[in-house]
Amino acid sequence: MFDLEKIVRQNIKRLTPYSSARSEYSGAAQIFLDANENSFGSPLERDYNRYPDPLQTEIKKIIAARQSVSTNEIFVGNGSDEAIDLLFRIFCEPKRDNVLICPPTYGMYAVSAEINDVEIKRARLTDDFRLDFAAIKKAIDANTKLIFICSPNNPTGNSLDRFQILELLKEFDGIVAVDEAYIHFSNEKSFVSEINNHPNLIVLQTFSKAWGMAGLRVGLAFADRETIELFNRVKPPYNLSQIAQEAVLRALGNQAAVEETIDEIIKEREKLIEKLKDLSFVEKIYPSDANFVLVKTTNADAIYKFLVGEKIVVRNRNNVELCAGCLRVTVGTPPENERFFQSLKNYEKQ
Ligand SMILES: Cc1ncc(COP(=O)(O)O)c(C=O)c1O
Repeated sequence: MFDLEKIVRQNIKRLTPYSSARSEYSGAAQIFLDANENSFGSPLERDYNRYPDPLQTEIKKIIAARQSVSTNEIFVGNGSDEAIDLLFRIFCEPKRDNVLICPPTYGMYAVSAEINDVEIKRARLTDDFRLDFAAIKKAIDANTKLIFICSPNNPTGNSLDRFQILELLKEFDGIVAVDEAYIHFSNEKSFVSEINNHPNLIVLQTFSKAWGMAGLRVGLAFADRETIELFNRVKPPYNLSQIAQEAVLRALGNQAAVEETIDEIIKEREKLIEKLKDLSFVEKIYPSDANFVLVKTTNADAIYKFLVGEKIVVRNRNNVELCAGCLRVTVGTPPENERFFQSLKNYEKQ
């Protein structure tokens, strides 16, 4: 049985969180002399001299209404990378606990584990990029605190089986973090609607992909309120800048534009796949539920180098397990995709 109390690190349980000036007073004062801000303003066209809302209340209200969750079931972070790091800091005792990842997958899970001095266990995906349940069960031990499931998965592009993930949530006594960075490009249902059924579920989403705001660094985690409370206790007090908060609020008012861009990206993805199929050096294009495609070629290193010479950069995944010969290509704008394709034609001709 999952028991949050049992899996949180002792030092986090004992922690008295930092109490910021803005969280101690949130009324309508006229003069703020409480936070050692600069009352004279900023050397900019507008002022940023005040600390931002530590809990991003306005953003959470809108997201809560759209995703049918409560505001206290949402964490807003400095990218979902912040949420990934917080998972380690909240749940994993360095040098003792371990986490499970299912490679090939997003690289930051392993990097965050290493930074936090936490052992990584690996249960490789099957050859057709599905979860290997037997391998997962074999890898888990009493000190396994987290399992990262990336769906749609980076770099393979496919969604992982929903029923297998639900099974894992039922059987595993630790946290299952389902990373949905690319969910908006997929027809699969998000796991956000499952957070009330599974206290050990954490769903990660981001404004960096479908929302087109990677430069602002805004990510989300959805989970049971007790888990979100832990995130709030451990995060830096003002983890999301005023500029980022204001921009997200404006973007949330423009959801229709985001839906349009998603449709366009999906159309371009399918067009790109059709075109790449005809190239002689392309061995396989993996189906994608994301804004990128994984392409298996006869010589990934040579193609990568050729493209760099053409001032086009893709991600060379040749040395990643199960991805020999593969390039991961982000879907660009129509002119970008056309230039990319023409460059590949030139490579084919030489
Ligand atoms: C699967 C996955 N999760 C998370 C991230 C990081 O997202 P963010 O920009 O919100 O930190 C990425 C970025 O590429 C990703 O591929």
